[in-house]
Amino acid sequence: MSNNSAKLTIGDESWDLEVSPGSVGPSVIDIAALYKNTGHFTYDPGFTSTASCESKITYIDGDEGTLLYRGYPIEQLANQGDFLEACYLLLYGELPTKAQKDDFVQRVTYHTMIHEQMSRFFTGFRRDAHPMAIMVGTVGALSAFYHDSTDISDPHQRMVASLRMIAKMPTIAAMAYKYHVGQPFIYPRNDLDYASNFLHMCFAVPCEEYKVNPVLARAMDRIFILHADHEQNASTSTVRLAGSSGANPFACIAAGIACLWGPAHGGANEAALNMLAEIGSVDRIPEFIKRAKDKNDPFRLMGFGHRVYKNYDPRARIMQKTTHEVLAELGIRDDPLLDVAIELEKIALNDEYFIEKKLYPNIDFYSGITLRALGFPTTMFTVLFALARTVGWIAQWKEMVEDPSQKIGRPRQLYTGYAPRDYVPISQRR
Ligand code: CMC
Repeated sequence: MSNNSAKLTIGDESWDLEVSPGSVGPSVIDIAALYKNTGHFTYDPGFTSTASCESKITYIDGDEGTLLYRGYPIEQLANQGDFLEACYLLLYGELPTKAQKDDFVQRVTYHTMIHEQMSRFFTGFRRDAHPMAIMVGTVGALSAFYHDSTDISDPHQRMVASLRMIAKMPTIAAMAYKYHVGQPFIYPRNDLDYASNFLHMCFAVPCEEYKVNPVLARAMDRIFILHADHEQNASTSTVRLAGSSGANPFACIAAGIACLWGPAHGGANEAALNMLAEIGSVDRIPEFIKRAKDKNDPFRLMGFGHRVYKNYDPRARIMQKTTHEVLAELGIRDDPLLDVAIELEKIALNDEYFIEKKLYPNIDFYSGITLRALGFPTTMFTVLFALARTVGWIAQWKEMVEDPSQKIGRPRQLYTGYAPRDYVPISQRR
């Protein structure tokens, strides 16, 4: 057998399967023709060993704790670049020149307003609606307002839809927040940068001037960079699957937002902060560690563990630093939740259970503390994640639509239900 093929033997028969290398990371065994050739499906619930696509956008080495956007380490992008530069990189594949960056910023900035009629959608929601529920509904509704960018076969329309979503997501997220807290909507301001404009739309009120703190805006921008893409995670795979049928991009992103909402995914930052609040004080940590290790207790340490990272999540390290910067800027010297988080991390990282299972803090462990300090209620945390991840979803969606070998996604199953049986009239059923 050559180095670039694998042999599959079932009973007396064998087949050669092609092995394709990645530029970095594991190679894949190509099983696309497996069913046709062998009559067998593969079985991989949760896709733990299955590559669903070929991609050039983001790479994670979970054992090393490495995250690259288009080859650039997340640490360098987060410390030296800004979010719109990362957006350009994810969308176009290269860092922009100064002229390209200026042009991109201009194009995003001038798409930030939403159709005025769309603002009435918000008032149709119950006042106590979760802002993620509002996001799912209103982002899906974009396809009802921007008909001139829903033809996915037109590259120009695809790009306009992409820019519209990156530009409008902060406006929609801020409106969801304002509606949630019962304050008037604040329109976008084109003289502010992306993160400052978002903070302004969230925290300004018409009755007084609001000055955006540049340190907090920089922290917000860095949080957006850290969340911008994460290869084929659940919500991104949802966007790709939705898009594989030819659905318009606004509908696909709404599907991604719905998936992100779950507590095992984007909802974990909200859940992590709630957990820190529930623990409440350092002396209660052992009780919760014990529960997390108990097989009969469904409790998990939220913000710990990751499907791919079996080492420290590189985003968590940057997030932790950002947390300290934000708290220092706001003069918050004693945050009991931060004390609990630091001690919990220390204890868990030295505990045999967590060491053996390679459970490390993920990005959500510290992001909640930072977002709360910035002034956001917990219900907004996943919304901010959705805002930032939109560019990743869009880049992955575009890559898929532009791939000539793209097919509708259609997984198979291992059927374990009844074999064929005859219909029984209701009068004869027991
Ligand atoms: N606390 C306690 N035990 C855990 C935890 C945890 N947070 N996470 C995993 N384990 C245990 C789990 O019980 C299992 O033990 P065993 O092998 O004895 O059955 C083992 O570790 C492997 O867990 P798994 O559920 O099979 O692993 P997974 O890859 O399917 O799950 C995960 C990954 C992120 C869903 C999971 O670690 C988890 O539920 N973490 C808490 C939620 C969380 O923080 N999610 C945010 C993920 S990062 C943001 C994002 O990318 O969306």
